[in-house]
Amino acid sequence: MNIVLIGFRGTGKTSAGRLLARRLKWNFIDADEFIERRYGFMIAELFEKQGESLFRLLESDVINELGKLDSHVIAAGGGAVLKYKNVKNLKRNGIVFLLEADCDTVYKRILKDDKTGKTRPRLTVKNLYDEIKSLMEFRKPYYKQACDHTINTSKSTPEDVVNEICEILRSKAIIPY
Ligand code: S3P
Repeated sequence: MNIVLIGFRGTGKTSAGRLLARRLKWNFIDADEFIERRYGFMIAELFEKQGESLFRLLESDVINELGKLDSHVIAAGGGAVLKYKNVKNLKRNGIVFLLEADCDTVYKRILKDDKTGKTRPRLTVKNLYDEIKSLMEFRKPYYKQACDHTINTSKSTPEDVVNEICEILRSKAIIPY
């Protein structure tokens, strides 16, 4: 069994995922970091030089591989759920948690995150706030369909998010009390 975190950029997948893995003594894999290490490109560079469609192909390949692991916490990129086959691969051996946050919170977190420039290419020609608002709206049904549980992270620390996830995992006897 894997624990998979999905959700829009800035919802805290990487921070909570890393902490959760430490708590469970499992390995943590961030799909974007995995792609960057394997192919030797920062995600933004890949988008710029090769275009989003190549990134999406690499992302699907990597997710197919990650779905075959066991006892891993996996953070998927924010757009991974847009392809049904990615969702199927993530769910193959995984329980999927959707991390949500409101638009203003995501906007502030993305602006503050110094990884943003290198690893977070822009996805539309809109200004950042409008891009977040419209993509979050568009993707909402994809996220909802892909997840088993939803955690709101707007007012939570990564520690709170991990506690909430662990509570659910205990109630399902996936981890012991
Ligand atoms: C993307 C989100 C990014 C990364 C890529 C595309 C998206 O991942 O996969 O820049 O389409 O929302 P994070 O959600 O980890 O920032």
